[in-house]
Amino acid sequence: MILSQPSSDQWWSSAVIYQIYPRSFKSTTDGVGDLPGITSKLPYLAGLGVDAVWISPFYTSPQKDHGYDVSDYRDVDPLFGTLEDATTLLARAKELGIKVIVDLVPNHTSDQHPWFQKALKAGPGSPERNLYWFRDGRGENGELPPTNWRSVFGGPAWTQVEDGQWYLHLFDSSQPDLNWENPLVREEFESILRFWLERGVAGFRVDVAHGLMKDPALPDWDHDWEMVSGLDDDSVPAPPMWDRDEVHDIYRDWRKIVDSYGGMMCAEAWVHDDERRSLYVRPDEFQQCFNFSFLASPWDRASLQEVIAQSYEVNNRVGAPTTWVFNNHDVVRLPSRMGLPVTGKGPNGIFPTDPQPDLELGSRRARAAQLLMLALPGSAYLYNGEELGLPEHTSLADEYRQDPNFRRTEGTEAGRDGCRIPLPWDSTLPGAGFSPTGETWLPQPDGWEEYAPDRQIVNPDSVHTMITTALKLRKEHGLGTAQIKDHTTEDALEYQVGDIRVITAFDRELPVPDGWQVLLSSQPVTDTIGPNTTCWLQKTES
Ligand code: BGC
Repeated sequence: MILSQPSSDQWWSSAVIYQIYPRSFKSTTDGVGDLPGITSKLPYLAGLGVDAVWISPFYTSPQKDHGYDVSDYRDVDPLFGTLEDATTLLARAKELGIKVIVDLVPNHTSDQHPWFQKALKAGPGSPERNLYWFRDGRGENGELPPTNWRSVFGGPAWTQVEDGQWYLHLFDSSQPDLNWENPLVREEFESILRFWLERGVAGFRVDVAHGLMKDPALPDWDHDWEMVSGLDDDSVPAPPMWDRDEVHDIYRDWRKIVDSYGGMMCAEAWVHDDERRSLYVRPDEFQQCFNFSFLASPWDRASLQEVIAQSYEVNNRVGAPTTWVFNNHDVVRLPSRMGLPVTGKGPNGIFPTDPQPDLELGSRRARAAQLLMLALPGSAYLYNGEELGLPEHTSLADEYRQDPNFRRTEGTEAGRDGCRIPLPWDSTLPGAGFSPTGETWLPQPDGWEEYAPDRQIVNPDSVHTMITTALKLRKEHGLGTAQIKDHTTEDALEYQVGDIRVITAFDRELPVPDGWQVLLSSQPVTDTIGPNTTCWLQKTES
């Protein structure tokens, strides 16, 4: 069956985009990653073969949610450097032919943003309060929150201020939600888009793109909307705060601005299903929307086959390429997730006291999953350290945890610190070369230096070598824009992508088909493809 992929000559439609989580990528000072650290590693990323980077927020921020709480959208936090450092980074990336996508956080600001500070002072009923969602409480004296909504990070989604009113925050209390009904909010973000486009960014990854509009009647809603996966239950009424149809008008306006600079936008949208996701990539909205169904798929043939087929089908309907992703700064790293008894989206962090992943099995599956992903037409995202096969830190002591999710769930969820450990760069240096002093803002687990690039680049069997080779072959064979045919059988996932045959074996061994030779594989393959292995094959020359 031809799954077909709409071909597009736009760079982003088949790009491999590398996500940088700035505080964990590379530090040039004191153990927190920074912009000069990113600039210094751009040649490494060029060597890896990525087309673009997406940099998580580096703007001025009290860092309550590590930058996803922005207090000045037009400046760089001193922790990460200066605006000049950003300019230098953009210039160096351009020289190396790497595009730069920045993160835009429009659903909420920091509570330290001047708008929110003014709103607190201005008092109930003021135009300043109308930039956010301030409401009187319920109960006899307004002592109860205005609705029963819950924060994604745990606890109530409302916090009371001194004069008795409450404000809405779908995340931490330090992240008040903006009121997108207010034209001033819209104007401000259009100006922020222009500010960064003028500086030469190639586009934006838009944070919580599904959250901006709320039902102004603020009805109660008794459910939790899960990070990444939304809510998989058809019987639940549509949420009054997530994935509302009105959000799309905002993106139609943005698209016009972004188009005028030749830029692109990628939506982070946790939605109920693939159909809803495809609405974000209609021709006049986003160019990309992360395929979280793929990320959340269990490691089994039938589920992955269905997700892949369905992704092409719904995106084909709106003429958009797909956007594959397995990792980001919000989920347990792939080799660990794939080593759990139940694979899929995984838990929200793993405690040392939890059942531990089988890392040998997980790493084998992760390599197979990565080779599968990189063969699929469309765009693909890699998360920093994914090219090193980094696992989750699952032995982190609670005293080090910084994710608001850990605090707001009163320690019942470990949170996302375990996938944000400072990267190893040099196995011979303290802190595996993360910073000049050896300091790291979160402790690295034992043995972290073994994953460092200096060890991997010289090792033909390393994850780094596999990914570099895959990216090179992907380009040479035009896989990102090729036609794809599904030949899956009971035994294995099998696709013909352009001139490459891609086979992923799960629980059984398969012979290498006659007339085909191995071009690249996630495990050594001679005559048979072992379990949990992906193989790229090419016709033998006759
Ligand atoms: C980001 C998270 C962040 C949240 C609130 C997201 O979806 O990816 O890291 O905590 O938005 O901004």
